[in-house]
This record gives sequence, structure tokens and C-alpha cells, in this order.
Amino acid sequence: MISLDSFWMPFTPNREFKVAPRLVSAASGVTYQTDDGRTILDGISGLWCVGAGHSHPKISEAMKAQIDKLDFASSFQVSHPSAFQLADRIASIAPPSLDRVFLVNSGSEACDTAMKLALAYWRVCGQGQRNLFIGRERGFHGVGFGGISVGGMVNNRNAFGTSLLRTDHLRSTWDPTNQAFIRGQPELGIEMADELESRIIALHGAGNIAAVIIEPIACSTGVLVPPKGYLKRIREICDRHQLLLIFDEVITGFGRTGNMFASTTFEVVPDMILFAKTVTNGAAPLGGVIMKRSIHDALMQGPPHMAELMHGYTCSGHPLSCAAALAMIDVIEQESLIDQVNALSPYFEEAVHSLAELDQVISVRNFGLAAGIELRAKEGAIGQRGAQAQALAFEKGVLTRAPGDTLVLAPPFITTRAQINQMIDTFKKVIVAIH
Ligand SMILES: Cc1ncc(COP(=O)(O)O)c(C=O)c1O
Repeated sequence: MISLDSFWMPFTPNREFKVAPRLVSAASGVTYQTDDGRTILDGISGLWCVGAGHSHPKISEAMKAQIDKLDFASSFQVSHPSAFQLADRIASIAPPSLDRVFLVNSGSEACDTAMKLALAYWRVCGQGQRNLFIGRERGFHGVGFGGISVGGMVNNRNAFGTSLLRTDHLRSTWDPTNQAFIRGQPELGIEMADELESRIIALHGAGNIAAVIIEPIACSTGVLVPPKGYLKRIREICDRHQLLLIFDEVITGFGRTGNMFASTTFEVVPDMILFAKTVTNGAAPLGGVIMKRSIHDALMQGPPHMAELMHGYTCSGHPLSCAAALAMIDVIEQESLIDQVNALSPYFEEAVHSLAELDQVISVRNFGLAAGIELRAKEGAIGQRGAQAQALAFEKGVLTRAPGDTLVLAPPFITTRAQINQMIDTFKKVIVAIH
């Protein structure tokens, strides 16, 4: 029996967990195996990572070959071919004009890196006063100081003080009156974008704003899908006032919305894209920022012997992560995973909306292979029903996540219809069982 005492688990009620631990010890395809020999369906792709399914042989093989050949090389002053190959590959699948890539190890680092890039960019443009970042309520951009500042989740910064980077926030696009049971993008609500101009820019002055950072779909806070036209209008306003627009595609990148990037799905080209998670199928930590060449080029200055940006991580472009990502992009393309997302999405949509018939369900929303099923909160105990449902679902054989009282389903792209049915049947039993 192992001791659970020393490991402080992230984003987890540790004391509760250690009384009733949930430990998995193996995984393949759409399933985990628990320590005690049970099979659990992975309804959340690990943590929005494992699009191709667990232990994909091509990714495992690529990583094994890499570690036997070159275990580690930093990219400080020296580097290795697969970091360059990966950046090139990502540039080739990114939206047009975004073709320069900074590699990091996580979504949080990607966010803080993009914020530094924005600040540095405006300085070299002679507009260093642009240092205000605009996020959005219910946005999640990881846990770095930049990410928690621009993120819209007060609980993530409460313990650390509130005066971090200079930020303001757009309102969330969540509208319970008109969006409670919505399939895909809401028809109503494009005008929510106008607030960027009429309130935020009017209040702070466009000339003081460095960038607007939003997730195309706010997934971590329960799958909040933007109204039709909203993202395009945000882009138009940014263009009118020369604000940089940064899309956090840490969840939506690499297939989940039915294209490599949600930017393509929603036909909006931002100035930078943040990615992580699915890029390696979760097999190794990797994140990054894809940026417009103009941002990169503006920063390529200073004395030639000096680094152009005093930023980077020991493991930026780690050989194992690069090998995993190159293999994952191959798998996405060669095994037509994006076609699979598009083929499964309508079935998934019908399935998740069948939960609307349950009394306890107050909202269902979905896009691509992501859905939020919101349960009625318990009086005076917001989040308790969600936490109970998440624990019971695991007991009954499905891994899900519950931000607040919303159960999230985001299955691997290779999930079968039968497995979707099994996830939904389990959800039905769980939701009815929780009082
Ligand atoms: C949209 C978004 N951005 C950033 C992050 C942070 O990523 P990481 O946990 O890899 O730091 C997450 C993590 O869930 C995320 O969902």
C-alpha cells in the first residue's frame, strides 16, 4: 500500500481525496484501469488532452525512439532538429499568417509567454504604455500570475491577493435566459462583443490596452459557446483600435471543435494562439504560442549577440515532447481524427441533450466534442452537487469533471457511439441518484 501523505494534489480537495482515493494505473484507448482492476471510461480525455485515445502506439513508439537517441537538449544556444521540425509543422497547420512558434511546457506558461510577447511588442513599437490586458469573466488561462490576472475566476486568485497585472474583463457570454438548452452556437448575443468598445475601450483608452485574451469557447468553466458572430465582432473592434487579439486554444486546439484550431472553425484569425494539452495527446508536457510573423519580426532586434527575448524554460522544446507532438500531428492527419470529431459530434449532441429531460438538469450546451451539463445547485452549497456527481460517476465507471455544478463531457475523438451511450446512461443514473 503506498502512502498518499506527501503528494499535494493540484486543484483537488486533498483531505477528501485521501479518504477515498481514485487511482488509475493503466490506460488504453478510451479507458482507464483502476488500481483495483475496474475499467473507467474516459469522458474528459484525461483532462482535455487525449484526443487520439490513451497509449497510442505511434506516439509511444516515437517517444521511445527519441529517448534512446537524444534524451535531452535545451534550446538555449544549442537545440535539436525536432524542435524546429515541430515549430514548422505547427506553423503549416495554423491559420494563415501565424507562422512563428515559441515552445513552452504548459498552457499556463503559454499564457504568460503571450502576455510578455505583447508587452515587449508594444515597447519596440514605441507604445510601452499599452500594458492593460482584457480578459473575460469565467475565462481560464492557467495559473501563472499573468493567467490568473487575465482569467475571470476569482477563486483562482483570492488566496494570492488581487493586485496582479493590470486587467479588466469583458462579461461572460453565458446567458441563462436564452442559452439554457442550446445546441452549438447561440443565435442571439453578438452585441455582447460591443462592450469591448463601448465600455472597456471607452473607459481605459485603446492606446493603453496591450491585448484581449479570450478562449474561443470557455471550456474549463463549463463549456460556454460564443454567440454567432461574437468572435468576428471582437476581431473587428480589435482591428479598429489596433489591439492584439489572443485566442487561448489550450483546449480547443488540435481538433476538438472539428478543425485543427477553433480559429478556423469560427473563421477568425487572432494575432496569437495559445496551445497545449492535445498537441502531444497528453503523453508529454508541451505548450506554446503561435504568433503572427509581424510580432516575431518586430522583436528580432537589438545587438546580434544578445537574445531578442529574455524568456524561455529549461524544457522549452524538450525532445520527448517534440517527438510526441510530431507523432500526434501525424496521427491526427493520417487517422483522420478531425473527420471522426465531425462525424461523432451530431450523435454526441443528441446524446448529451437527452439529459435535458432530467429534473435536476438546468442547462445543456455543446460544441464539437465538448459539452456542459449543468445541475441545479444545492441551496447554500454551490458546487456540492457537481462534486458528488463527479465522484459517483467515477464509482460507476466514467471519468468526468465538474466545474461548479456543471458536469463536463469531452471524450477522446476515437470514442464509439456505444461508449457515448454508456457515458450518458451512467450520467443519467448518477444525476438521478444525487439529491
Ligand atoms: C483554456 C486554458 N488555458 C490554459 C490552461 C492551463 O493549462 P496548463 O494546466 O497546462 O497550465 C488550461 C487548463 O485547463 C485551459 O483550459
